[in-house]
Amino acid sequence: MNNKTAKPFLKWAGGKTQLVGDIEKLFPIHFQKSQFTYIEPFVGSGAVLFWMLNNFPNLKKAVINDINADLINTYKTIVSNSKELISILEVMQNEFHALEGKENEKKEYYYQKRTQYNTRKSTQTDHSALFIFLNRTCFNGLYRVNRKNEFNVPIGSYKKPTICDRENILAVNEALKKVDILCGDFEHILPYATENTLFYFDPPYKPLSETSSFNSYSKYEFNDQEQIRLRDFCIKLDTLNHTWILSNSDVKGKNANDNFFDELYADFNIQRVDAKRSINADPGKRGKLTELLITNQGKSRPYVRAI
Ligand SMILES: C[S@@+](CC[C@H](N)C(=O)[O-])C[C@H]1O[C@@H](n2cnc3c(N)ncnc32)[C@H](O)[C@@H]1O
Repeated sequence: MNNKTAKPFLKWAGGKTQLVGDIEKLFPIHFQKSQFTYIEPFVGSGAVLFWMLNNFPNLKKAVINDINADLINTYKTIVSNSKELISILEVMQNEFHALEGKENEKKEYYYQKRTQYNTRKSTQTDHSALFIFLNRTCFNGLYRVNRKNEFNVPIGSYKKPTICDRENILAVNEALKKVDILCGDFEHILPYATENTLFYFDPPYKPLSETSSFNSYSKYEFNDQEQIRLRDFCIKLDTLNHTWILSNSDVKGKNANDNFFDELYADFNIQRVDAKRSINADPGKRGKLTELLITNQGKSRPYVRAI
């Protein structure tokens, strides 16, 4: 019996562990009392998902989605084949740790695994193990691919990083039992919404400057047109009477004249909260920033809501 509480099994840019307290404050009271469905269309490492699964026993079902097929494949492997995944990761961990102090051999091992990953010819479980291995050993835990969908992050400088967290993989396997796992564009999750559904959107953040921010999680770019498409989808959910919370970067904090999100979500409730970003190549830039939390609760809107 594994009593460990499930937590994200990956490092992921934009991981939301730091923001959970602020999201909790926006959590609709009626969801705390009755059964509900939770939908997270940009799940990434699932910091908010695991917090929800651990803290809301009345959560009837969760639906998660991401456009990154390798990421979703790994969630599915944890559900279907966690024991074999653990065995493969244990071998990789032993082999990698044995190379500590032999930098050239360590590098060679990492780049050989990266090449193997990019062939995408391994079995589903092997591919998931490679995905987790690269995530734990690459530079800053970044996931970045080129236009050919080849993972191109260099090796990180960790000493004996944890590659196989056995207890957590088993806890995640248990926690995912009431979760439907989907892969695709965020708009495709609409049919999964039921009467009492809460959506949390954590899209790739709009960059604060052309060079500063990281948002290439997959071969698809999430540009301003995509941010507008997401806003339109949020309007659609609002008219269908669904409740949503969304986070994004506070571009106005960087440039007081930049009203991009203030205009886009003018009809909704916009809050600014302090947030700490952990993935930034420059340690000097890992300081405090404000982020936006936007919700369709608590503000009168011009959109016609279903009765
Ligand atoms: C900011 S991250 C989410 C971080 C997550 N909340 C966490 O705690 O790790 C954004 C995610 O959106 C995914 N994504 C990008 N474009 C997408 C799209 N059109 N539809 C669905 N997911 C998308 C990326 O692959 C990435 O995992």
